[in-house]
Amino acid sequence: MIIAIDGPAASGKGTLARRLAEHFELRHLDTGLTYRAVAAALLAKGLPLGDEDVALEIARNLDLAHMDKSILSSHEIGEAASRIAVLGGLREELVALQKSFANTPPGAVLDGRDIGTVVCPDADVKLFVTASVEARARRRTDEMLSKGQEAEFSSVLDDLKRRDARDSERTVAPMRQAEDAHLLDTTEMDIESAFKTAVDIVSRARLS
Ligand code: DC
Repeated sequence: MIIAIDGPAASGKGTLARRLAEHFELRHLDTGLTYRAVAAALLAKGLPLGDEDVALEIARNLDLAHMDKSILSSHEIGEAASRIAVLGGLREELVALQKSFANTPPGAVLDGRDIGTVVCPDADVKLFVTASVEARARRRTDEMLSKGQEAEFSSVLDDLKRRDARDSERTVAPMRQAEDAHLLDTTEMDIESAFKTAVDIVSRARLS
């Protein structure tokens, strides 16, 4: 059983993916963390983000079990991850790792930008989770404020717009909804109703 979840930044896809994995007793991989881990290592070494040879070397040694979300979730690392995500050779390396995670029994939930289109085109269920950019910026701002971080709605909104453009306009594996993906627009939903809707979609797909 493979569940592929794609969508833009701050759409709630990560929370949904984690909760679906718990519910259906599957493993979960947040593929954004693989790009973030490589970006963080380049930043830590003070190397340019376009250095694909070093990025490939880091990717080859990546241990999926030891990616620390609390460190990798910073805004700076997210921006850097989005920049290195345009490197075709690096993507091939990371996609191979992600595919092997997905194909290990009993299956998995993967979330990212190109799961339904590139990583797991034959997934049993595909979801494209989105929300208006304003709703996503509001949620991201509230989340940062609740963690005691500084956040201003208008600059979070601008950041998200820039990130959406970079992720959906790149030439290699741009973010897009797979033709056979179910669209889940959470603009008017809270996380509980989004989760219930997603469980219904997956349960129906399992029966068919
Ligand atoms: O989901 P996230 O914010 O952690 O992802 C960080 C960046 O990594 C995102 O802006 C683009 C890139 N990414 C990607 O290109 N493909 C994926 N499957 C996941 C993330």
